[in-house]
Amino acid sequence: MPFTHLTVVSTAAWIARDLAAAGTIPVRAVLGFDVPNLTGSALWCPGPWATRLMKTGASRSFTSAGPDWLARVPGRYLRRKVWCGTLGELERREDFGPGFYKLSEHKHSLVPAEVHASSHDFTEHVHAAFDAWPGAGSDVLDLNCTVSGLMDYRHEYRCFIAHGAVTAASQYLSRLPGIHGGDVTVTWDAYQEDRCPDPSEASAFAQEVANAMESDQPPGYTLDVGCDAEGRWSVIEANAAWSSGIYHAPRSGVIESVLASQEPGHDEWLWSPDHLFLSRAWALPAG
Ligand SMILES: Nc1ncnc2c1ncn2[C@@H]1O[C@H](COP(=O)(O)OP(=O)(O)O)[C@@H](O)[C@H]1O
Ligand SMILES: [Mg+2]
Repeated sequence: MPFTHLTVVSTAAWIARDLAAAGTIPVRAVLGFDVPNLTGSALWCPGPWATRLMKTGASRSFTSAGPDWLARVPGRYLRRKVWCGTLGELERREDFGPGFYKLSEHKHSLVPAEVHASSHDFTEHVHAAFDAWPGAGSDVLDLNCTVSGLMDYRHEYRCFIAHGAVTAASQYLSRLPGIHGGDVTVTWDAYQEDRCPDPSEASAFAQEVANAMESDQPPGYTLDVGCDAEGRWSVIEANAAWSSGIYHAPRSGVIESVLASQEPGHDEWLWSPDHLFLSRAWALPAG
């Protein structure tokens, strides 16, 4: 085990308390205003904070599935067409038409993951969001994007994975038929921890996917999976375990995945934020 403890960067004090309660590794909570002492420590932190930490020149071994992993998942686990590439490539190819468009590994309020009528509509939207940033130019064209066919997910689950094994899972969202028509969205926090929906079907599906991916998966990550009204399962996306919301997933399994996701020695999976965001991130002040 390369880590003696886990540092949780968050204003939500309960996250560190919860993870500490698992009793598997000492946990320290920090607010993240500056660079904490990270000797011997693994991290659980927001992606934008990790980008700022990288900007300080800190050497961390954060891994992620990468911006185009989803397109390598076999079609039987996706149930829709998925394309991954840069914004520039998306502009040069034939328009995909209506679909679900997003930045591959970044959540940004100016470009939320959402449905667009066409590739053109999405690329225009991204340019409108970022072109005004000083010197943005080719960095905008280099943004990694994901386009996928439209799905109708009814239940969504987060599955934590360490070394190819699902170690914890939790439902995070459900769309239920409302009594007056339309859908009612219920999120994980509506449930008490000991009464939340059983994630075992989702875990079994995620395990099938992890088995199929063999060596083509990072040492630790989260796999979001969903099922539609007919109960058909598919992969929604992969996320970095070190920055993934935990929901009601059992803490010890979460920690296994979070630690695995930053284990040194997996250079082929090192997380690499898009240059547009890394180059404009502010380095954190020294602690
Ligand atoms: N192909 C799709 N079609 C329709 N809805 C989708 C599709 N993919 C994801 N969603 C919905 O949009 C939400 C956000 O998409 P996601 O890929 O998880 O992006 P983010 O990076 O913002 O988490 C998902 O939780 C799911 O409800
Ligand atoms: Mg998501």
